[in-house]
Amino acid sequence: MTRSAGWFGETGKVGFYHRNKLFGEGFDDEIFDGRPVIGIANSWSQLAPCNVHLRRVAEAVHDGILAAGGVPLEFNTMSLGETLMRPTAMLFRNLMAMEVEETLRANPLDGVVLLSSCDKTTPAMVMGAASADLPAVLVTGGPSLPGRFQGRPMASGTDVWRISEEVRAGRLPESEFRYAERCNSRGNGHCNTMGTASTMASITEAMGLQLPTSASALALDAERFRIATRAGARAVELARAGIPMSTFLTRESFENAVRVNAALGGSTNAVVHLLAMAGRAEVPLSLEDIDRLSRDVPLLADLLPSGRFLMPEFHEAGGVPALVAELGALLHQDLPTVSGMTLREVGAAARRERDDVIRPLADPVQPAGSALAVLRGSLAPDGAVIKQSAASPGLLKHRGRALVFDSIEEYTDRIDDPDIEVDAETVLVLRNSGPRGYPGMPEVGNLALPKRLLQRGITDMVRISDARMSGTSYGTVVLHVAPEAAVGGPLALVRDGDEIELDVPGRRLDLLVGTEELQRRRQEWVPSAPLETRGWTRLYVEHVLQADRGADLDFLVGRSGSAVGRRST
Ligand code: FES
Repeated sequence: MTRSAGWFGETGKVGFYHRNKLFGEGFDDEIFDGRPVIGIANSWSQLAPCNVHLRRVAEAVHDGILAAGGVPLEFNTMSLGETLMRPTAMLFRNLMAMEVEETLRANPLDGVVLLSSCDKTTPAMVMGAASADLPAVLVTGGPSLPGRFQGRPMASGTDVWRISEEVRAGRLPESEFRYAERCNSRGNGHCNTMGTASTMASITEAMGLQLPTSASALALDAERFRIATRAGARAVELARAGIPMSTFLTRESFENAVRVNAALGGSTNAVVHLLAMAGRAEVPLSLEDIDRLSRDVPLLADLLPSGRFLMPEFHEAGGVPALVAELGALLHQDLPTVSGMTLREVGAAARRERDDVIRPLADPVQPAGSALAVLRGSLAPDGAVIKQSAASPGLLKHRGRALVFDSIEEYTDRIDDPDIEVDAETVLVLRNSGPRGYPGMPEVGNLALPKRLLQRGITDMVRISDARMSGTSYGTVVLHVAPEAAVGGPLALVRDGDEIELDVPGRRLDLLVGTEELQRRRQEWVPSAPLETRGWTRLYVEHVLQADRGADLDFLVGRSGSAVGRRST
C-alpha cells in the first residue's frame, strides 16, 4: 500500500474530504487508484532570482511523473534569494528546511522531486527531506550563462569582488561598476563560478541525490529540461520500490561529498551545510573528518574562484561524472545513486572532453593538501575553516597584530579612516558575526582591504571572523571561528595590538596572550543583548548550534520520519 493511500483510501466523511477537492482541481479517479503521488517541491520565486526559472523546470518534472505512471502534485516552498534577503539568507535556511520537512510529512505524498537553485535552497531542501525521509530526487537549477564585461566573460561574484576593489583603489570609475551590473549573467540560473550554489549542486550529485550532470547543465539548456523529466520518472520508480532518501545519505556518501568538494575547490559554506545535512541524516561527521578526508585530494577542477574557468566549461568537460571517474579509488565507487546506476557506472558513462578544465590526477591544478583546512587553537577551540586554494601561499603561516572590529558596520565606517593603524602584516578581526551574534552568520568574512593598502598594490591580508564568506570569494580568510564571540568564544576577548599566529600547515590558530590576562578579560566581558526578540529570529537565536555543528537548530537534528500521523478530518 502506498503512503498516499493512508489519505485517499479512507472511507466515509474522512475519505470524502481527502478526495473531493482534488476532483475540484480536475483530477480523476486515477489519483486514488494506488499509483505513486509525487510532490514537486518548488522554490520558484521572483524574490530568489536564481530560482525563477524553476516554474519551467517543474513542468518538465510533471511530464516525467505522468509518463512513468505517477501523479504529480506541485507545491511552493519558501525560497531564499541570496542577493535580496536581509540580514542574510542563512538566517532562514533552517526555517525553509523545517517547512519542507513538515509539508512532506503532513501531506499524501509517496515521493518528492526537490527543486532548488540559489545557495541555501539546496541544503534547505536536502535537510528537510532527509528528516522526512521519503523517496526523493533533487534537481538543482543549473548555472547561468556568463555575461561579458570589458571583453571577457564575467564570473558571478568573483568578478564583483575583484572589480569593486578596483573601484576602491581608484583604478576603475564607479560608472563602469554600475554598467557591470547588467553584464553579470545572460539569463536565469545560479552563480556560474564554483561558488556555494555550484558546490552544493555538485556535491549532492556526487552523493547520488541528483541525476548525472544535473549540477552543471546550464539553467536554460534543453539538457536541464531532459534531466528534470527523467528526475520525475525516477521519483516514481523510487517511490514504487520504496527506496527512501536515507539510502543515499550514508557515511560513505558524505565522505565522497567532502572529497569531491576538495577536488572542486568548492565553497567553505559546504562545510557548514554538510555538517547540518549529516545531522539530519543521523550520519556522524565532524570537522576533523572533513580536514582528514580533504588532505589527500588534489584540486582537479580549474574553476573560479580557485582557477580559471566557469561552470559552462565544467559541463563541457563532463561535469561531476567526469570528476568522479578521475577521482577513481579516492571515492567509494559502489554507492547507489537516484539514477539507478552506481557511482562507478555514472563515472564510466561520463563524456570526458576537456582535461584542461578537469585535470588528470597526475597533473592537478594544485597538489593534494590545498583544499579546505580545519584549524584549532586558543583562538578557535572548536574549530575554524580556511580555503587554502583561494588563499595566498605566503600568508598561510603568518604572525601579525590584531585590528579588531565588533561589527561589519563598524568595519565599514572605520577601515578607510586615514588615521587607522593598519599595514600589510595586520590581522583583521571581525566578531559578532556568527550564527547567534549577527544573527544568521552572514557572508561578510572576506573583508574588503583598506583603500590605502589597495592603492599600494596589496591584494591580500589575513582576515579572521566567526562569519562565513561567499563561495565565489577568495583570499587568506579564516572563517566559522567556533565558539563565536557572541557566546563568549575567545574571539570576544581579542584586543587591538594582540598578536595572532596562523599556521595552516600545522592546523593552528592562536591568540598569543597569557592565560591570566585572558581570564581577566573574560571577567570583564559582557554579552550583548539580542537585536531581535520575536518571531523566527528569536527561535533561531535560542536554538541555533555553533558552526562546527552545522548551525542547525538543536531540535531539528535527526530524522522525524514520514509516518502518517493523526487526522483531524
Ligand atoms: Fe544565487 Fe549566487 S546569488 S547562486
